[in-house]
Amino acid sequence: MAQVKIEHVGKKFGEVTAVDDFSVEISDGEFVSILGPSGCGKTTMLRMIAGFERATGGNIYIGDRLVSSAGGRIFVPPEKRGIGMVFQSYAVWPHMTVFENVAYPLKIQKKSKEEIRRRTEEVIELVHLTPYISRYPHQLSGGQQQRVALGRALVAEPALLLLDEPLSNLDAKLRESMRFEIKSLQEKTGVTVVYVTHDQAEAMAMSDRIVVMYSGVIQQIDRPIRIYEKPANKVVADFIGLVNFIGAAVENNVAHIHDLRCEISNEAGITGKALAAVRPEHIKISKTARPDSLTGRLTHKVYLGDSVDYRVQIGGDELRIINKATHFEEFTAGEEVYVNFKKLMVFKPD
Ligand SMILES: Nc1ncnc2c1ncn2[C@@H]1O[C@H](COP(=O)(O)OP(=O)(O)OP(=O)(O)O)[C@@H](O)[C@H]1O
Ligand SMILES: [Mg+2]
Repeated sequence: MAQVKIEHVGKKFGEVTAVDDFSVEISDGEFVSILGPSGCGKTTMLRMIAGFERATGGNIYIGDRLVSSAGGRIFVPPEKRGIGMVFQSYAVWPHMTVFENVAYPLKIQKKSKEEIRRRTEEVIELVHLTPYISRYPHQLSGGQQQRVALGRALVAEPALLLLDEPLSNLDAKLRESMRFEIKSLQEKTGVTVVYVTHDQAEAMAMSDRIVVMYSGVIQQIDRPIRIYEKPANKVVADFIGLVNFIGAAVENNVAHIHDLRCEISNEAGITGKALAAVRPEHIKISKTARPDSLTGRLTHKVYLGDSVDYRVQIGGDELRIINKATHFEEFTAGEEVYVNFKKLMVFKPD
């Protein structure tokens, strides 16, 4: 299989910097997602790994081979990089059957008829399309077509699989089940995967590590749990999951939030004006005051079945709080309530 090393890679389209100083090392057999909002440079980065776009800076290695070096003017074309790719607007050929679509890369490689048949049937089995092998794309659902595109990317046994939002055209349910299919397929084949998505749940569910990108720049590279629990900065905290930001003042290991003193670890060594960040599930709403609670007014409550979504006004801040539904009926909109922070993050302000 393949490890991938990306060193200081950049891409400029004229004046626009789509990707800036991107560096990451991906291990053999690892599943890494590039996650970020629309336009942050994900597709551009993936296309540079594939060789469909030329980097304007830095080096890319696939395995031990330098496939792209802007300085050294090395550029290995896509067909010589040993990759499989599913594009953002995945396209399966409408005039070819499932078998013909999946077999296509092997045909191009001029494999023997027998090998093409054997390998194609194997891969079609792997993506659960055997009953549809002779159908044309218009006779398949969106999810089945998606699996054809995946099969076609896998058939030539690439060392590296590059997937660009491969589930974006599917409905929510199918998207969820495909997450598991892709993950188990990767585990079965041991292929190294770079997966591009703007959907954090997708990235969380499948990845060994996530690269969070914003505006062309890497913000954090970490395991999913760390990205959620220890976001590197305000941008990551805001993009991953839900979060309340509240103005704070930090002095050594204490954050002052409204009239509350909160002990913090302050690993970043912040002093003075800061931004406290609390996830809605890390705030507890209560009818009784404690020494460490803030007083606010409940403005809204929405029953969601397993949980309740509350809004509480504290001075100029409106906090979103998500708690278990057990105490839903005890609270009335408009009344005074008390809130406690169970976990607090602190960032430098902009
Ligand atoms: N060929 C091009 N010429 C000029 N600018 C481009 C070109 N391709 C991409 N860009 C710009 O580069 C930036 C990054 O685009 P890219 O397609 O990589 O984003 P993305 O993260 O994949 O977004 P999305 O989630 O919407 O697919 C955008 O500002 C885009 O407009
Ligand atoms: Mg894209």
